[in-house]
Amino acid sequence: MADDDRVAPFDLVVFGGAGDLALRKLLPAMYQRERDGRLADDGRIFAVARSPMTDEEYRKRAEEALRRHVPPDTMDNATAATFLKRLGYAACNATDPKDLTKLKARLADGGRTRAFYLATAPDLFGPICDALGAAGLAQSQARVVLEKPLGHDLASSRAVNERVGAVFGEDRVFRIDHYLGKETVQNLMALRFANRLFERLWNAGEIDHVQITVAEALGVEGRGAYYDKSGAMRDIVQNHLLQLLCLVAMEPPARLDADAVRDEKVKVLKSLRPIDAATAARDTVRGQYTAGAIAGQAVPAYAQEIGADRKSSRTETFVALSAALDNWRWSGVPFYLRTGKRMAERRSEIVVQFRDVPHAIFPREAGEVAPDRLVIRLQPDEGIHLVLNTKTPTPGKLRLQRAALNLSFAETFKTRHPDAYERLLTDVLRGNQTLFMRRDEVEWAWRWVEPILDAWATAGDAPKSYTAGSWGPAASTALLARDGRAWREETG
Ligand code: BG6
Repeated sequence: MADDDRVAPFDLVVFGGAGDLALRKLLPAMYQRERDGRLADDGRIFAVARSPMTDEEYRKRAEEALRRHVPPDTMDNATAATFLKRLGYAACNATDPKDLTKLKARLADGGRTRAFYLATAPDLFGPICDALGAAGLAQSQARVVLEKPLGHDLASSRAVNERVGAVFGEDRVFRIDHYLGKETVQNLMALRFANRLFERLWNAGEIDHVQITVAEALGVEGRGAYYDKSGAMRDIVQNHLLQLLCLVAMEPPARLDADAVRDEKVKVLKSLRPIDAATAARDTVRGQYTAGAIAGQAVPAYAQEIGADRKSSRTETFVALSAALDNWRWSGVPFYLRTGKRMAERRSEIVVQFRDVPHAIFPREAGEVAPDRLVIRLQPDEGIHLVLNTKTPTPGKLRLQRAALNLSFAETFKTRHPDAYERLLTDVLRGNQTLFMRRDEVEWAWRWVEPILDAWATAGDAPKSYTAGSWGPAASTALLARDGRAWREETG
């Protein structure tokens, strides 16, 4: 469906509607769609939470949130006023079907899309869906949107999926991995499948290895209680990093439809070589940050940040691992994945490093013929860079130098970069599931991740320390160095 179509009339219900996700991300995203003129005139948004509040009070709170979180150059009073009129508030215990009748009374009976966004603690997903079913709110037009984490291992993830699935069929369940809504992540599909150039090179014959990094400069930011139970493996690797790996490694889907794309991603997950107790020590590194400095600012150690004694938390804030895909296209090509909090800088990127040229014709003094690299920069400074060898412009002896063909999205497309939630919420309302995780995707990801978590638990080692503001523990460098490779850590 073309983006210039307006979404049909809708009732979007946000459980946890007074919480951080709703105020910081969901309302600003819907406001931007309003500003783009994409919302049907009678589309409505209902926030549900426990504390009593009138519609007017909620609108006030929403307005403050917009003023705080919408970039000032896109904030205008007329649009905000139109948008705020769409909002309503229902004080309900979302797990009590009787209480949900208060919400039911305000929703339209039919003839419009109904979407329930569960921006709540994940242990409420099952109970809320049960209550929606019992209250007769989950009719055939209704969809449900779930945020990660979906379980903390395979069994708990299955349990959530079963319980949600008993009320909403799979074609009505939208599991969000917000990375899939990022512009540059969607651009990966365009890069690979709207251009002829790369596909012939996109295999083990031409590619030496792939690196995927999701590095954050931030720490746990007041989410210590959640994070300490989760750790980087569950928080980022199981979802965002594996999704990125799927988009890089998948076969071209036959069509751009939700199942064709998700079938190909599942095949990638199924071909991941298991890492278990025998190989975890060799192929994975876990780390936890100690005090350090980022951009000249002193930052505390993880244990201090979460308020625990250093010895009592063995949660990893950093993971690096070497993954292998056992299939024809990628046999023998390592996929190095890495993520961490309090790293040297915020940087999410994919580096595809090609093989060396087969034969050297340049004299040694000309300098190194380094392998070509395609760098897909997800954030910040979104763009695509193809780093090549060129001749230095000099009349003297021939010298080689690295230079990049740069496609900076900010410079090329002088337009606003939409937030991931703008796209994802629109897709929910339009019923397009391509950018959402299907149940089997989530479960196959857990199947691969869980033996690694088990191996770590059995080994019982403390995570390796790294100084906040660095690129992780020395063992992460060693993981690639043993294969004669190195992480891309230079800036630009
Ligand atoms: C979330 C994680 O899924 O992604 C957070 O729970 C993390 O811990 C965040 O900070 C990173 O998202 P982004 O969009 O800032 O890269």
